[in-house]
This record gives sequence, C-alpha cells and structure tokens, in this order.
Amino acid sequence: MIQSDPLRRPEPSRAAATYGRVVPNFMKKGEQLYSGKAKTVFRTDDPERLLLHFRNDTSAFDGVKKAQLEKKGEMNNRINAFIMQKLEDAGVPTHFVERLNAEESLVRRLDMVRVECVVRNVVAGSLSKRLGIEEGLVLDEPVFEFFLKDDVLHDPMINESHILVFGWASAEEIAEMRRLSLAVNDVLKPLFSAAGILLVDFKLEFGRVGGKLVLGDEFTPDGCRLWDAATQKKLDKDRFRRDLGDVVESYREVARRLGVPLDD
Ligand code: TMP
Ligand code: ASP
Repeated sequence: MIQSDPLRRPEPSRAAATYGRVVPNFMKKGEQLYSGKAKTVFRTDDPERLLLHFRNDTSAFDGVKKAQLEKKGEMNNRINAFIMQKLEDAGVPTHFVERLNAEESLVRRLDMVRVECVVRNVVAGSLSKRLGIEEGLVLDEPVFEFFLKDDVLHDPMINESHILVFGWASAEEIAEMRRLSLAVNDVLKPLFSAAGILLVDFKLEFGRVGGKLVLGDEFTPDGCRLWDAATQKKLDKDRFRRDLGDVVESYREVARRLGVPLDD
C-alpha cells in the first residue's frame, strides 16, 4: 500500500461513535482503488474503511459531456456529508463515517449492488421522455425505478425480474432497496421543502456490509433534481446537462439554504 501523509482529523465523530468504535485521529490514504466520473476511491490503513475524493470533474450523458468546475468537489463533499448525517440520524443506514477535509470523506467499504434506484416526486428527465408526459407534473405518490449501472449500455431501465434472474440482488435485497429509497425520500422531501426546494427526483446506490444493505455512493446535486419551490429554477446538474450556467453557484445556493457549513 502506498502511504502518503496522514490526514489530520479532529475529534472522533458522532457517526463514528454510532458504529461502536473510535476512529483513530490519523487515517492514512492508501492506493487508489477506483476512479469514477466524479469521485476517486482510495484504500485507507483500515481495510473496512475507504476514502472518497469528490473531484471537480463533472460529467453527463454517461460520460459523453465533461467539464472541470471549480469548487464542485468541495461543495458536493460538504452537501453529501450533511445529507448522509441527516439520513443516519433518521435511522437510514449509510456508509458515511465522516468528512475528512474539503474534498474527502471516510466511508465504510461496501460490496456494491450493480443497480441504481431512482425515486421521483415530479415528472422530469427520462420519465418525461419515455412516457411522453410533460416535465413538472407533481405525482400523487413517488415512482420507484431500477436502472442497471452500466455507462456503455447507457444505464438501461430494468425491473425486479431482471435483477433476480441475472443475480444482481436477492428478492430480500430488492425489497430492502425499495424500502430504504422511499425512507430516504420521506426524510429528504421535507428537509428540502423547508429550504424552499422541491426534491423532484434522485438516484441512490446501495451496498452490502455485515450481512445488510446500506446506502452508499453520494447524495449531491449531481445525482438528483432540485427546483426552487417558488420559481422552479433548476439548482442541480441539469444546469450542466442543459448548458444553463451557474452550476456550482446553484449547488452553493442549495448548501446555503440547507444550512450546510461551508467554512470549517
Ligand atoms: P433520469 O431522469 O435521467 O432517469 O434521472 C433521474 C434522476 O436520477 C436524476 O436526478 C438523475 C439521477 N441519475 C443519476 O444521477 N445517474 C444515473 O445514472 C441515472 C440513471 C439517474
Ligand atoms: N447518467 C448520468 C447523467 O446523465 C450520470 C453521468 O453520466 O454522469 O448525468
């Protein structure tokens, strides 16, 4: 394992205490395990802990459109830490341990499920295109969908039968992913609403650890749609996808309204 300088961290966090163990005050950043479109994953000196680096790289349409957006990594790391902690506090198990510094966080190592779970409160994006329903229709109850995580195939929509037959997850895991995704919606819809933001839709990824499923990956404006409740202004990655400008400024606005600490 390649070891770089230890990353200084302050007190063991509340999240760390939740898992019944004290996280050491120093965590060594090890070798790079994987680099995705917006995050890089590193080993640490604890085989059960990984370090997530939120980069400024931004991509859309399965990696076809790319850009570097100054401060996006830091903004997403901060928003993700805030949301993951809110979910933990509400009883949704997540991989999040603590934020380490501006662009990095410590998480539990998961065996990731290869499917993406999407919850929608309002019609937008691919649902609008697929069914020919106008963007903006508010749904009476959330729609839940599965997609296969595969950029080459453009993340095709799949159903429970595909997941079971191809062995991507068990029937129990499918039920648990649906239950946890809707629980996340029940926590986050009011949280965003109190900040004057409509939670239109979002994507989650889950993984296995210690025989159970927990929320992995991230929750940031890169993987959800957020509209200003009063003006319908888009405050999420659609600003990048649709060339609307002010991408990171909008993410910062989301953070500010949620009360995410931005200067520690
Ligand atoms: P969609 O309208 O493109 O299906 O996306 C629904 C929501 O899920 C939207 O907030 C974007 C998010 N999402 C991702 O972030 N990555 C993905 O690969 C997929 C399929 C959806
Ligand atoms: N499929 C998602 C999007 O179009 C994620 C990505 O490709 O970056 O934004």
